[in-house]
Amino acid sequence: MKTSSSMSGHGSALRLPQVVLLATGGTIAGYAADAGRTATYQAGALNIETLLAAVPGLTDVARMRSEQVAQIDSKDMTCALWLTLAERVNAVLAEPDVDGVVITHGTDTLEETAYFLHLTVKSNKPVVMTAAMRPATALSADGPLNLLNAVRVAAHPEAAGQGVLVVVNHQIHCARDVVKTSTYSVQAFQSPEIGVLGWVQDEWVELQRRALRRHTVQSEFDVAGRHALPMVEVLSSYANASTVPVEALVSAGVRGLVVAGTGNGSLYGPLQQALADAARQGVRVVRASRTGAGHVMRNGAAADDTLGFVSAGNLQPYKARVLAMLALAHDMPTDRWQSLFEVY
Ligand code: SIN
Repeated sequence: MKTSSSMSGHGSALRLPQVVLLATGGTIAGYAADAGRTATYQAGALNIETLLAAVPGLTDVARMRSEQVAQIDSKDMTCALWLTLAERVNAVLAEPDVDGVVITHGTDTLEETAYFLHLTVKSNKPVVMTAAMRPATALSADGPLNLLNAVRVAAHPEAAGQGVLVVVNHQIHCARDVVKTSTYSVQAFQSPEIGVLGWVQDEWVELQRRALRRHTVQSEFDVAGRHALPMVEVLSSYANASTVPVEALVSAGVRGLVVAGTGNGSLYGPLQQALADAARQGVRVVRASRTGAGHVMRNGAAADDTLGFVSAGNLQPYKARVLAMLALAHDMPTDRWQSLFEVY
């Protein structure tokens, strides 16, 4: 599946696709005074024009427009910025002349933002997120090629209708499945057990399968006009885990708790009891796993029906939090919660 001006499939053969780049910061926009530095640098230091200038050939792939939505280290990502980003993506994709969007982002919370947008973007046009593990100033920086590849995918007609895609290190991942799995390697992103959707190398874009879970235009979550999301926090279970965080969060008014349990979502006894008490008080409790792969069986390692819990299935805890926040924001009734984790 070659992408070029004559094979783009968007409009006439003479018209290059229009891709809008939304920049948010991250290591892809990172700066260090010394090219040998890959761990100590300032994330989000460089603006989008500087990133674009480092990618020769981009304008042969697409007509580019860019917008600096934020300039942050993604550890500082907020729900308010997610809502702003969703609004910008939706507004830009509603323009008839725009064929796709690329978002540059830090790697640390990329998977959370990707899943949030996967559920809240209301368009079939391609949305591709990319990032880098090495700052823009580093020897062998990975950002410029990742950016070029992201634009190649966003300009490709087969990327339409796939939800939000994450393109890093030549691989194309689904937003629902992708996670960061390394602190330093350029091969940091993986979709455990499920694998990549496809690959991109030079002008070759290859998608081999589709995401089956609901996203974008099939998603019932609409965040237009919202400025905040309900409070949902993530906890984990481990040997001798304290119940103090649960009690403190319930007192603070938390609306939902995602617990990253051991193994198949099993919970240390006193912690399980504290979570069941929270559920009785109306807090939504979602049982996920801290293992990083596999799924949590409903009524498997804990009696969800009796305890008032929801199983996250194979959704990892931080993404389960995103789904829980959206479900709370939409006042989803109790009896729909388990099915949400089965269809999204
Ligand atoms: C960040 O997430 O903004 C910093 C780390 C990175 O992008 O690799």
